[in-house]
Amino acid sequence: MSSESFENLSYEDRTFSPSETFIGNANAKSDIYDEANKDRQAFWEKQANRLHWDKKWSQVVDWQLPFVKWFIGGKLNASYNCLDRHVLEGRGDRVAFNFEGEPGDTRTITYTQLLSEVCKTTNALIELGINQGDRVAIYMPMIPEAAIAMLACARLGAMHSVIFGGFSADSLLSRIQDADATLVITADGGYRKGAAFALKPAVDEALKGVTNVKNVLVVKRTGQETAWGGRDIWWHDLVDKQSDKHNAEFFDSENGLFILYTSGTTAKPKGIYHTTGGYLTQAAFTHSAVFDLKPETDVYWCTADIGWITGHSYVVYGPLINGATQVMYEGTPDTPTKGRIFELVEKYKVSILYTAPTLIRTWMKWGDEYPNGSNLSSLRLLGSVGEPINPEAWMWYREVIGKNNCPIVDTWWQTETGAIMISPLPGVTATKPGSAMRPLPGIGADVVDDEGKAVGNGRGGYLVLTEPWPSMMRGIWKEPDRYKETYWSRFNNLYFAGDGAKLDKDGAIWLLGRVDDVMNVSGHRISTTEVESALVSHEAVAEAAVVGAKDEMTGQGIVAFVILRGGIEAAKGDALVKSLRDHVAKEIGPIAKPRQIMVVAELPKTRSGKIMRRLLRDVAENRAVGDSTTLADPNVMKLISEGLKSGKSED
Ligand code: WTA
Repeated sequence: MSSESFENLSYEDRTFSPSETFIGNANAKSDIYDEANKDRQAFWEKQANRLHWDKKWSQVVDWQLPFVKWFIGGKLNASYNCLDRHVLEGRGDRVAFNFEGEPGDTRTITYTQLLSEVCKTTNALIELGINQGDRVAIYMPMIPEAAIAMLACARLGAMHSVIFGGFSADSLLSRIQDADATLVITADGGYRKGAAFALKPAVDEALKGVTNVKNVLVVKRTGQETAWGGRDIWWHDLVDKQSDKHNAEFFDSENGLFILYTSGTTAKPKGIYHTTGGYLTQAAFTHSAVFDLKPETDVYWCTADIGWITGHSYVVYGPLINGATQVMYEGTPDTPTKGRIFELVEKYKVSILYTAPTLIRTWMKWGDEYPNGSNLSSLRLLGSVGEPINPEAWMWYREVIGKNNCPIVDTWWQTETGAIMISPLPGVTATKPGSAMRPLPGIGADVVDDEGKAVGNGRGGYLVLTEPWPSMMRGIWKEPDRYKETYWSRFNNLYFAGDGAKLDKDGAIWLLGRVDDVMNVSGHRISTTEVESALVSHEAVAEAAVVGAKDEMTGQGIVAFVILRGGIEAAKGDALVKSLRDHVAKEIGPIAKPRQIMVVAELPKTRSGKIMRRLLRDVAENRAVGDSTTLADPNVMKLISEGLKSGKSED
């Protein structure tokens, strides 16, 4: 990537300042940046005091690049901070979750009720032999039991590894094996797009592999026919009979809280490993400062699934620590109508909405009649996460959803960062449509060139983080060398985020997408290599190259180029392409199905054998093919283009 490629970016000069009333009432005021700059450690200590600590830390931070510890010697319990504290301090009757199932069933769960459900589940896990430090795989639809299961693990000091329900049995198995989980918590199924889907069969399929899983705890959600075996236990049989009292034990600040797998640049996903004290501190602080949560009056809704980091930090830990009242919705935004999300905003009087650009663009396509069909006047703040938000979508979000009344916080962060790193503060920042603006107080970020030198305003380069932060990943599970190599070897003393970014003339940060082999499809990270190895594992495929091509709706779409094995006819066309797409869905999950698969005779490679994805991206995005002089065989691109024109390869 050359910094020249950023120079021609259009410059956005609209700014939107918060209203005087918003500024006056904001949780975070403008002096907070100075406060943090003056003494970063004191600033984070102050934020850590948002939590209940059974024992205070003796040292704030220990930074031995690239390994960090925060609040050393402190003891706390994550689940206690999310639940017990509110009940003990008289907030037990406050609603924690307004749950809405896709079919329209609802549950209202107060903090007192959530605490007793979590205690019962904790006691059930104890009965199943789960101890501090054990790993528990959670593979669930978006129902309250998903959060309850996470909080029960945390209560015991056991680590959860949540695997998104859209992942296949194979993906589930490799994650269970990598973390060596001994228990899987799942459901018979869930509801999506107006129908019940099954989850338990994927668990059964996965557990045909070699694992140390002793039990599978199954929530009955849909009541569908479910195969049953000796290790399976219904949630209602085991959990319901437990005592609803459990005294939380306090664990070390650096006790493991969870592992969450995310795609890297190789075929093997990375087990991003987070611990307790620092993670909770930053999740709670950012949730309060960035979303300006007023727990007594706000209704907060983050639409992310619990299977992603956003669901961890901004559905479970951040909001519950802050005593938020939330909406949790099981299904898809178009069921039964394309106005479902807006109807729920009206129904629950949602005041803070946090969602992803891909959904905002989808709403734009569906048309303004859907948001206009509901009363959205309860909204007072809007958030965006997961991928760069284009200025058009940002303006539409502001005007049509926010009625020009709501600050927008475009929040940049990653599974690895654990919590928001770059974002406007809604009562401070004059925002620019499409920019995540600047690092939060206590956070250091910059944009550097190939040599790691700051590019300065008006230029583009690589986004780096310059200071250790509390919710930083503590490593890649069992792979310390890969951790160093991936994040800390590109530049000296800087965390390499893998994103391109530009600083505008005022120093505002504009995110430009990934610069590595990771695609971002509807806000989900998928590795090109992972899809390539899934394709190559199909009997018909000799070689595959995968690129992320620009996609109006999903940000990027997956486009695959495959070379077939000798004797397999490309002319089989559609059926073959379908079977390849299904194969990828089986290997990784439906979210990784290529949008388009093109059968080609050759792939463009350098003399050293590296596939030149840049050229394939040109083809996938219907552009003139760029400089191909370093190709080993200069004719390849011509062959590919001709092959495509002759129509052998379409989806
Ligand atoms: C991208 C999601 C631009 C980015 C919380 C990052 C963003 C990756 C933004 C992490 C944003 C996330 N603007 N890009 N506001 N937020 N990204 O781990 O490429 O699922 O590296 O964490 O998403 O994705 P992850």
